[in-house]
Amino acid sequence: MTDYSECSLTRFPAPVLSRPAEPVGEIDDSIRQLAERMIDLMVQTQGVGFAAPQAGVNLRMFVVSLDSTRDNARVYINPELDLSGPTVGHEEGCLSLPGIYSQIQRYGRCTVTATDLEGNRFTEEAEGLLARAIQHEYDHLQGVLIKDRMSRPAKVRARRRLRQLLDDYNETDAAS
Ligand code: NI
Repeated sequence: MTDYSECSLTRFPAPVLSRPAEPVGEIDDSIRQLAERMIDLMVQTQGVGFAAPQAGVNLRMFVVSLDSTRDNARVYINPELDLSGPTVGHEEGCLSLPGIYSQIQRYGRCTVTATDLEGNRFTEEAEGLLARAIQHEYDHLQGVLIKDRMSRPAKVRARRRLRQLLDDYNETDAAS
């Protein structure tokens, strides 16, 4: 059994954040432990969602809780998305890109079909903030970050902060 209890938050430019994640196989104790760990990290950092690559794990699962509480956390394993328009712009941040906030265009509605921790497939209709959070987390499973969806001027404004994150990462790497 893979031990996921010590997973920690990964930040850009960790390679796991920019590659497509792999489907989850059997939902066993290690997957349940990973979900617990992801919820812990989301609650600690007051995020509204958390994807497995953000815990350094290359698997297709994420959690969402719009009020950042454990009670309202929902787990989505091997999710499929059906998007419907129109698109709406709203400010987003990402725990893996600290200090970067930008208007991001998302579809107003989506239908998500996913597996829960009991292994049951479920379908959920989402709109507004929930639809946005689901699309943001789903992007993580595709290796896509908000920096990849920002407008060109926003990218220019974020350039210094992105450079700083790259430098911090390289320093940590060199130190370890
Ligand atoms: Ni994110």
